[in-house]
Amino acid sequence: MSTALAVFVVQQEFSDSAWKKSAPVIVGEQGATIYLGQDESENLRKVQKAGRQLDNLGVSSAKLSGEGWDFERQWAFANGYTDTRSTNKLEWASNSEALTQTRNVVNWTRELVNLPPMDIYPEALAQRVAEKLESLAPEKVSSRVIKGDELLQEGWMGIHTVGRASKRPPCMLVVDYNPTGNADAEIDTVLVGKGITFDSGGYSLKSSEGMLAMKCDMGGAATVAGALGLAIEQGLQKRVQLVLCCAENLVDGSAYLLGDIITYKNGLTVEVVNTDAEGRLVLADGLQYAGEVGAKRVIDAATLTGAAQVAVGNEYNALFSVDDELANKALSTAAAQRENLWRLPLQPWHKENTPSAFADCANSRPQKGGGTGGASNAAGFLLRFAPNDGKGWLHFDIAGAYHNSANAMWATGATALGVRTIAALLQD
Ligand code: BES
Ligand code: MN
Ligand code: ZN
Repeated sequence: MSTALAVFVVQQEFSDSAWKKSAPVIVGEQGATIYLGQDESENLRKVQKAGRQLDNLGVSSAKLSGEGWDFERQWAFANGYTDTRSTNKLEWASNSEALTQTRNVVNWTRELVNLPPMDIYPEALAQRVAEKLESLAPEKVSSRVIKGDELLQEGWMGIHTVGRASKRPPCMLVVDYNPTGNADAEIDTVLVGKGITFDSGGYSLKSSEGMLAMKCDMGGAATVAGALGLAIEQGLQKRVQLVLCCAENLVDGSAYLLGDIITYKNGLTVEVVNTDAEGRLVLADGLQYAGEVGAKRVIDAATLTGAAQVAVGNEYNALFSVDDELANKALSTAAAQRENLWRLPLQPWHKENTPSAFADCANSRPQKGGGTGGASNAAGFLLRFAPNDGKGWLHFDIAGAYHNSANAMWATGATALGVRTIAALLQD
């Protein structure tokens, strides 16, 4: 006999004088019941809120029961019901193999982001991701870590510059998933992740309040790693590489300074006008790597700008691309995966929006938050490094995906929003 709380959905008008009409879920003797209406988007929101409320009530084990639980309704419940430490137990009503697969990967992603920076430093991040992906497909996955001064030998100047002030050295992780059996197979997609395991802001130091959540700054790395993991579990048949740009953005006597100029592998020089605009500096290396290996598509994910979070809020990721066809594909894929994604402006001329008198460009405008259009200007900076003038490239700014506090839909911390969309794009 199951000791879990049974949770039902019913498609009917709710009438019970003891409960408010606005209650997403009511709890009775046989279990909990969620009353649904005609609009399925609203229904999914309600189901997710119900999950969140049951966690708030202290329910630690739930069993989705009865009719009416399709994949998306069950998934919405799981998203809401998952607590920050993902201790809650959940039994599915149907479709349990696909749902368990998704939940395992997504919870892995959320937990990784939520771990403290004392545990998740650059090498630890690289190692955990490599181990996870190797465990999913030992024969098809290989990986390499380029660490500390090795980064200089290979020309990965951005990662080294940002990360060199930490006692825990920066690194680049490269994972190769090659299911083809042909070592020279073409690479369909390179995934690039921002893996700043802690962002103090560097000498452009953040305030204490602004810094508190900055263990989440490897969220892009966790998201693309989770996406590849999910796609592998779903039987991905294409060769995909994952590149994580891992560093701790700290201060000490060897840290990079405002006014410093970074000369990248491709010859481009960048003046640092703000050491807190570090994400784009490390991603530049990942994008150049993608160009070197000749990937057809490049997808990056990064907690890149507060501006993106301000623009689209905490329930959306922001999408940037100069490739309209691919951008539209990403938007329709996100809609199909029931993940909120909103496209923000990016034109080739955004490259010119961070000018410098001393170098080819600066890493930001010398204004708070990068000035107006800060998220687009950051994307414009990345476009300078994207292969093929940005054709085949998607940039996900996921700064809103980590929640400083719980809301009606999500527990405090990481949401892993974007994992499903990027996994589905890989399959495409
Ligand atoms: N990691 C931050 C962006 C961020 C902010 C992520 C809030 C999640 C929540 C990033 O490195 C950063 O500091 N960006 C600056 C850029 C600015 C200095 C041009 C920002 O958004 O203020
Ligand atoms: Mn920063
Ligand atoms: Zn950052």
